[in-house]
Formats: sequence, structure tokens, C-alpha cells
Amino acid sequence: MLLKGKNIVATGVATGIGQGTALVLAREGANLLLCDLSVEAMAETLALVQPYGGHYHCLQVDVSKKENIENMVAKAVELFGSLDGAFNNAGISGATAPLDEYPDEDFERVMDTNLRSIWWSLKSQINVMMGQETKGAIVNTASVGAIVGKPGISAYIASKHAVSGLTKNAALEYGKFGVRVNAVCPGVIRTPMLDSLIKSGKVGSEADWNAIQPIGRLGTTEEIGEAVAWLLSDRSSLIHGQSIVLDGGFTVS
Ligand code: NAI
Repeated sequence: MLLKGKNIVATGVATGIGQGTALVLAREGANLLLCDLSVEAMAETLALVQPYGGHYHCLQVDVSKKENIENMVAKAVELFGSLDGAFNNAGISGATAPLDEYPDEDFERVMDTNLRSIWWSLKSQINVMMGQETKGAIVNTASVGAIVGKPGISAYIASKHAVSGLTKNAALEYGKFGVRVNAVCPGVIRTPMLDSLIKSGKVGSEADWNAIQPIGRLGTTEEIGEAVAWLLSDRSSLIHGQSIVLDGGFTVS
């Protein structure tokens, strides 16, 4: 198992990529502090991971609030005694509109949820890891939207480019102390977020999204989870500061 006995906090796990990844992390032997907007929303995820037999807890966390993030990290240490890994994944797509019509309040909401959350998470998590003998690894969820743009979702694209940048800088500053920081950049993955974007009718149909990835299909949440588990494990010890693209060839076509 890649993560036997490692204590990991993960956000945005009620659905989608977070849920699929929580399953893989549990299968690989991790203990998990599962975080999302409500404990009730995580019931399904909790039921799915429980058969793997680790220690699992759920915590209500709104990642757009700094004090929630600080409390989340403190809670992980209180429950497990250490923090070996973090998967900072919660995110929203935000409004869909051309840039000049994009509502300022939506821009702020996207930045709070997708970017400031990562800023606060990195600060709190690195702080704890730096104080431990065995440091730890952090994986942030960026997107192919950290590499290419997409008309109609400019706040989202800006937030994900910034997540990739923060990942690089955190890696530069803390690598020498043993804290590893990377990001994953999912392509088009079948999740409730994608469903709501398709339903908006402003960013392409399901057939368009399917055609975008040269492998000819959408990705699955577990396929992202496999990469996250490896990045959080000691087996990826030379991977540092990278934004790893998992997109079925989307960004090379
Ligand atoms: P999703 O909408 O299925 O899941 C997002 C989860 O985050 C939900 O459980 C939601 O309750 C939670 N969440 C939202 N706001 C939160 C907040 N303020 N505090 C705590 N939890 C919150 O979305 P999906 O697709 O699984 O997205 C997960 C991450 O993957 C996001 O960062 C997203 O930007 C990224 N991503 C998704 C892609 C896709 O094709 N689905 C592609 C590239 C990146």
C-alpha cells in the first residue's frame, strides 16, 4: 500500500474528484480527515471508505473561510497526532459569462474558494509539517485551466493558473526542509461540476467535451485519485513543484 498509516486531510470530498480520490487514498491505507461544506453531504463518501478499515473522520469546512481552514488543520493534528499529507481539492467553476460581463462578486467567490483557500491551506499545513520530524506532502487541485484558457470562465481560469504558481513557489521555499508540494491538473472529468457547466449551455455540449480529449472519453475521478495517492506517497520523492496534467492528451492536441 502506498499510504499505509499516513494521516491525510482532504477537501471537497462529498462528490466528484474528491470522493473518487478519497476512495483511492483509503484503499492505499491512509487515515483521512474528510472535509466538505456539510457532514451530511459526506455520508456517502464515508460509507464508501469505511470498508478499508482506516481511521476516518468528517469535518464541516468552508474552504473560502480562513478560520475554517486553520481549524481543519488543527483538527487533523488533534485527531491523528501528525499531518503527513493534504489534498486541497475543493473548488467551484463560478459564473459563465464573457469577461466584460462577469460579475465582480462571482470573481471574488471563485478566488476565495479556489485560490485563497489554497493560500491559507498551504500556510497552515506547511506550518504543521515544518514542526514535525517526518515532514509531509501536499497536492493541490489545479486544472487544465491552469495551462490553457476557456472562453466564458475567466475567473476560474485565473484562479487555477494562480494555484499552479503558488504550488511552484511553495515547492521552492520548502523543498529543502522536506515538505513536497505538487498540483494535479485534471482534464475533463465526469463530476457534478462538469454536469452543471454543460447544463449552463454556455461552454459546450457533452459531445464537445468528449471530443476534446484525444483518448475519446472523459476521465474518471479515480484516475485522478491514482495520481494524487502516488504524489502523496514516498514513491514520488523526486516530484516537486509540478502541475501534473491528467487530461487524456487534451493539452497536447
Ligand atoms: P464537484 O462540484 O463535483 O465537487 C466539488 C466538491 O467541493 C463538492 O463536494 C462541494 O461540496 C465541495 N465544495 C465546494 N465549495 C466548497 C467550499 N467552499 N468548502 C468546502 N467544500 C466545498 O467538482 P469536481 O469536478 O469534483 O471538482 C473538484 C476539483 O477539481 C475542483 O477544484 C475543480 O476545479 C477541479 N477540476 C475539475 C475538473 C472536472 O472536469 N470536473 C477539471 C479540472 C479541475
